Amino acid sequence: LPSSVAIIGAGMAGISAARQLHEAGVTVELFDKSRGTGGRMSSKRTEYGEFDIGTQYFTARHNAFCSELESWREQGWVARWQPRLCRIDEHGIHPSEDEQHRYVGSPRMTALSRGLLGGLTLHGSVRITQLDRHDQEWILTDSDGNRYGPFIQVVVATPAPQAIPLLAAAPQLARAAEQAAMEPGWAVSISFSEPVATTIDAAFVRSGPLDWICANHSKPGRAENCNWVLQSTPEWAAAHLDTPAAEVAKLLLQALGKALQTALPATRLLQAHRWLYARPAQTSDWGALAAPDIGLYACGDWCLGGRLEGAWLSGQQAAQAVLGQL
Ligand code: FAD
Ligand code: NAI
Repeated sequence: LPSSVAIIGAGMAGISAARQLHEAGVTVELFDKSRGTGGRMSSKRTEYGEFDIGTQYFTARHNAFCSELESWREQGWVARWQPRLCRIDEHGIHPSEDEQHRYVGSPRMTALSRGLLGGLTLHGSVRITQLDRHDQEWILTDSDGNRYGPFIQVVVATPAPQAIPLLAAAPQLARAAEQAAMEPGWAVSISFSEPVATTIDAAFVRSGPLDWICANHSKPGRAENCNWVLQSTPEWAAAHLDTPAAEVAKLLLQALGKALQTALPATRLLQAHRWLYARPAQTSDWGALAAPDIGLYACGDWCLGGRLEGAWLSGQQAAQAVLGQL
């Protein structure tokens, strides 16, 4: 179709843009190198249940996002999570409950992106490697040499480092993506053979390799009651980028025992996942990036705020920019 728009990346930013364009009557096609949707808002499936190994929860501050969130709650895609929160530092464990409302996809993180995708077209397991412009239209090429298109406009909704080569036709956008450095993170999924002897659900950790620990089963809709997720600090991940995953998992498990000041039960599942591009090193407030003369746009958390809410807002802004040119 002459008016169809390609969106590369089916994380929160890409899906947000896709939905707004679809609602305005534009034909959209999403492409993602992963099989499914969600990007960093991901769930890992195991024989002991699912683990949220990316986004842990999200908050809503911007009005537009707050009202969008209400519609997601009505659909049953997300639910409020009210953890018993702590802060852990070198002096010990400190209860740290607050008034902040926090939300999660239910019964797993990806329930949200699946719900949002609805009937939109997704080309899964397709890594786009090249964008070519001929006669005012775009042709996409994937890593197997398959070609897609033509598309009248293209929205790049990948993390900044992966956006750089795709934005080559708009040097000012590519330069912005180059500036937006992203930091790594390790996430560990653990299923214990019995519940951990603790009354806390999650903690912000302020010393050692850990940044965050969470009883995954404390979130609404998760059936298993022995599942934990640990996340490292970006600094620790940067220093352990090439450490084998099994060793990372053991080191962070040890750090959990130390943080909780308790002997941990045996593990029946212990897996580490490395996020090379977990989060922007600095937050920016670009909104979305646009080269309207050639119909090329970029969005994502690295363009706005560095959190899930920012990714959604950035996708909305990219869609508005596209609509302004149609
Ligand atoms: P992504 O979700 O990264 O989506 C980009 C998509 O592009 C991916 O699906 C990827 O597969 C795809 N892609 C990349 N290159 C290509 C290509 N060449 N071709 C095709 N597809 C491609 N945020 C919060 O608000 N709260 C939290 O608690 C929180 N915790 C986090 C914990 C971790 C461990 C991580 C990693 C992130 C966390 N975040 C959190 C950040 C949040 O996950 C992100 O801000 C948000 O998900 C980013 O969405 P996005 O659409 O911009 O990017
Ligand atoms: P939020 O308001 O709950 O947390 C923001 C930050 O405030 C926290 O990181 C924590 O340092 C502090 N904080 C909040 N409540 C606290 C409490 N009760 N006790 C002690 N400290 C508290 O949520 P927001 O603003 O939506 O941030 C999202 C979360 O996502 C943050 O925790 C952030 O670190 C995390 N994140 C993690 C990424 C990763 O790669 N691991 C990437 C992007 C975000």
